[in-house]
Amino acid sequence: MTQILRCRSCGYKTEFKPDTVCPECFNPLEVEYDYPALRSQLSRDDIARRPTNMWRYHELLPAVEGGVPEIAVGWTPLIRARRLGRVLDMPNLYLKNDAVNFPSLSFKDRVVSVALAKAVDFGFEQVGCASTGNLANALAAQASVLGLTSIILVPEDLEQQKIVATACYKTHLIKVRGTYDDINRLCTELTYRERIGIVNVNLRPYYSEGSKTVGFEIVEQLGWQLPDQVVVPMAGGSLISKLGKAFHEVVQVGLVDDRSVRIFGAQATGCAPIATLVKTGAEELVPVKPDTVVKSLSIGAPADGLRAARTIVESGGWAEDVSDEDTVRAIVLLAETEGIFAETAGGVTVAVTEKLLAQGKLDREAVTVLCITGNGLKTADLVAYRTDELPVIEPKYSAYRECRDPKMQMEANSVSAI
Ligand SMILES: Cc1ncc(COP(=O)(O)O)c(C=O)c1O
Ligand SMILES: [Zn+2]
Repeated sequence: MTQILRCRSCGYKTEFKPDTVCPECFNPLEVEYDYPALRSQLSRDDIARRPTNMWRYHELLPAVEGGVPEIAVGWTPLIRARRLGRVLDMPNLYLKNDAVNFPSLSFKDRVVSVALAKAVDFGFEQVGCASTGNLANALAAQASVLGLTSIILVPEDLEQQKIVATACYKTHLIKVRGTYDDINRLCTELTYRERIGIVNVNLRPYYSEGSKTVGFEIVEQLGWQLPDQVVVPMAGGSLISKLGKAFHEVVQVGLVDDRSVRIFGAQATGCAPIATLVKTGAEELVPVKPDTVVKSLSIGAPADGLRAARTIVESGGWAEDVSDEDTVRAIVLLAETEGIFAETAGGVTVAVTEKLLAQGKLDREAVTVLCITGNGLKTADLVAYRTDELPVIEPKYSAYRECRDPKMQMEANSVSAI
């Protein structure tokens, strides 16, 4: 059974090649699978026996000539969030925790895993990306392991932690004076001028399929059941669109019973082109110039924006955006209740959940999964204010006591006097 690339708009088909745009109508090309054949081939039991990484669903990922990659990406925990659920009054709340994804602590490890497997198949020795940070970390890490030359372009003002967590690998990291959208245009030009596999440009049809594994894992970890609601952070709009595809596919191939999943999108108010599209119901997305501390979601002209909005609306979901202040507060809430230190996208997701609950858009009782997609160590500066007034003491019990509670220190003194 050979997989092909197909244009969802006009039906144009082609064999696998490093290209993302339909030559007939300029819409995106997408990997197509033979679902009826997979229905008889794929079973829950077979999948359960496979290694615990994202490639356990390889039949629903682009076929790789070189074999399934060795780097064990994915199979991150699905956590029953009882404490956060109590605060939000959501008794059936779960967190999909890609803040601990291997190897670079975000869901972008998944998309890179597929893109690089295909890059090797296509014979690219040079790979690259435009990135808002997490993709840079993921590509630098896996390209190092595979011995590929990686060229990584990031906005000049990216968080220092994300720069360091990229530069530590064997890579060529270049800061660009411009936004993500400027860099994306430069990367597109690179694919015309040089022999390079840009993971989110000419390898995008394969790259984006990797996001589906978040959805497959959620379904398997819920005991082969679709959730009722998911809340998903959005930048380019690929993750949320592919979650929609994943939930559709597991039904198509007979792994779960059909059930409608309402899909909710989350953005920062300073860069919310997709949420705005959902709220206004407009036909066309209006690009914005990002102005937010949430750099990982700062894509002003999202490649899959229209598709993301359609995925949300067709599912019966909604989208919202939240302020930077609420994002930081939600990062702390998540850490204090569930012990998960998430990067800004996680704060946006939790804060948007609160907002959607207040609006009555989310059902409090329903099985709800929040996608936590990146690690807080990458954006630690935002919560550094919590270290401003930390006590510093002499290594003595009296000093400790005084610092904990000066009143009790007097009591401790009187005890020692007796
Ligand atoms: C941590 C994090 N979450 C979510 C997203 C959104 O993913 P997408 O661009 O597929 O919408 C990104 C994108 O960079 C990200 O870094
Ligand atoms: Zn087409």
